[in-house]
Amino acid sequence: MDSEVVHVPAEWRAQHPHGAHLTGMLEYRALYEESIRSPNTFWAKQARELLSFSHGFHTTHIGSLAKGNNAWFLGGELNASFCCVDRHAIADPDRVAIIHEPDDSCDASREITYGDLLGHVSRLAGCLRAQGVQKGDIVTIYMPMIPEAIFAMLACARIGAVHSVVFAGFSADALRDRIQDANSKVVITTDEGRRGGKAIPTKAVVDTAVRDCPCVSTVLTFKHTGGDVSWTAGRDMWCDEELKKYPSYISSEPMHSEDYLFLLYTSGSTGKPKGVLHSTAGYLLGAAMTGKYVFDIHPKDRFFCSGDIGWITGHTYTVYAPLVLGCTTVIFEGTPAYPSFTRYWEVISKHAATHFYTAPTALRLLKSKIKKRDVEEFNMSQLRVLGSVGEPIAPDTWKWFYNSMGDQKMTLTDTYWQTETGSHIVASLAGVTPMKPGCASLPCFGIDLAIIDPVSGEELKGNLVVGVLAIKQPWPSMARTIKGNHDRYMDTYFNVYKGYYFTGDGAYRDQDGYIWIRGRVDDVVNVSGHRISTSEIESSLLEHAETAIIGVPDELTGEAINAVVSLKTPVIPLGIEQELILHIRQSIAPFAAPKKVFIVKDLPKTRSGKIVRRILRKLLTGEKEFGDISTVRCSSPKNEKCQPLILRL
Ligand code: PRX
Repeated sequence: MDSEVVHVPAEWRAQHPHGAHLTGMLEYRALYEESIRSPNTFWAKQARELLSFSHGFHTTHIGSLAKGNNAWFLGGELNASFCCVDRHAIADPDRVAIIHEPDDSCDASREITYGDLLGHVSRLAGCLRAQGVQKGDIVTIYMPMIPEAIFAMLACARIGAVHSVVFAGFSADALRDRIQDANSKVVITTDEGRRGGKAIPTKAVVDTAVRDCPCVSTVLTFKHTGGDVSWTAGRDMWCDEELKKYPSYISSEPMHSEDYLFLLYTSGSTGKPKGVLHSTAGYLLGAAMTGKYVFDIHPKDRFFCSGDIGWITGHTYTVYAPLVLGCTTVIFEGTPAYPSFTRYWEVISKHAATHFYTAPTALRLLKSKIKKRDVEEFNMSQLRVLGSVGEPIAPDTWKWFYNSMGDQKMTLTDTYWQTETGSHIVASLAGVTPMKPGCASLPCFGIDLAIIDPVSGEELKGNLVVGVLAIKQPWPSMARTIKGNHDRYMDTYFNVYKGYYFTGDGAYRDQDGYIWIRGRVDDVVNVSGHRISTSEIESSLLEHAETAIIGVPDELTGEAINAVVSLKTPVIPLGIEQELILHIRQSIAPFAAPKKVFIVKDLPKTRSGKIVRRILRKLLTGEKEFGDISTVRCSSPKNEKCQPLILRL
């Protein structure tokens, strides 16, 4: 697993147009040592260098992991929208901030300069204020990948409102729950979105969701496709007309370092999605610092991250890292497969992207479809850095990415992190770290990793150890709480191994100290890099059935969801499998829908009534050895010992 090392190609450094930020591994090691030994000095220096405080901080950090009460840069005041927009608009207003590539390659792309961005963000900020949005209020954003989505995020930040972006693939029910939880007065959307040649009815989904949200007084809609929408007078407003009323500059609200910048829902091991809250200064610093050192971003770069703004990757590396560092972010509304499988190559060459950051699930798809000759015509000469995120990247996919898109001339960084960590925590640094295909590699600055024995709870020191991955020192971009449920925050991350932040992932440290991520050890499934809890899906079916959701390996999506269902009705209705799949698509999202549904008579359970997933997983993956099943029962009246065949899969 850990034998192969790919060194950064010599020409990478020689041909670097700006000179890399770090000189090499010696500098990484020295800086890393300093960041662990004297974290406060290290972080204070980084914060002063990378962010602009309108009022300097007096205390770098207080709190501990054991208490879960960490706070950074106290006394400091700043504004994320100022850091991402104003300071670049002042220095170089004509520099391009955002390039938008539409779904359809025949439609024109758009460029927005930092000067223009300041106007767009200010006008929308003024409009939000006029709708009664105040500092600390949460605004929900349900939008496709268009520049206006970024205007919306930054407009919230400008007036001190907290944004809650909901992925525009979530159903109306899921959106409703998130709007209600956030108690949003204002929802921002578009008439429609467009993906893979299909219209996405964003406004219609919002209309359905807000029917049950009395908190919502305004729905602001950007015209995007021109598609028909229904209209509720008094509540709905077209942004395009409304925004003309507001000035192209309003000053940004000074925010305390610890004021929340955004709320983002993610799945945990229990049913209800959790609203993770991130702070202003700490989060922004994590984005800026990893952008600078992991991706080696420079102001003239064009950073193309294919992550949707509805997920943390989109927040940190489509929006905040590129903009806080003042480079150009390339955003893409479409899919890698439409109108052809060369779409990513087209976007990269058309916009001269210097970086391309994507997920293994897209790479697996492309790997199976693309031949070398299909992509030979594209000019990829500007491309310097490739990145992977969201799930383990298998060595063969890594190599394919490196060889076919990178032409063996680039540096490929596998970045491991989470919604809760805010920014990368384990990653090879572009142009610096010798790469191992399939390996996230080394800890980022300030991240003090520990591998813990899950049985004894003891830290496993040294190399060649396997266990669960934890962090033993606080870092600025860690999430501060779960909205409305600080106990869940403590129990999920800090009370599992006292004094450590628990990631929920298994990991192996090899003989060189490189970290290999082995996947979740809790009930979270990772489908195409989208995180979903098994119990969230199970509870959506509770009315109809008792269900065990199992993640099984899948060639295309990494993991696929299989549902093993024991119906509550005596008769099995025809087509019930499709009905259950549809139900999950509608109540959660299409990505959460099972690939396969198995109807069974009983689910195997322990004496205390817990479903024994271990057996189901083995059955579904074709393993023959079931281990000790002497205590496993089926829930049938006879309570007979469970034999796998009884499942009738
Ligand atoms: O299991 C790990 C996996 O994705 C989880 C975090 O999911 P989410 O919060 O949605 O954020 C995804 C984007 C950062 C982790 O607990 N994961 C993320 N990146 C990697 C990964 N697994 C292996 N290698 C990675 N590079």
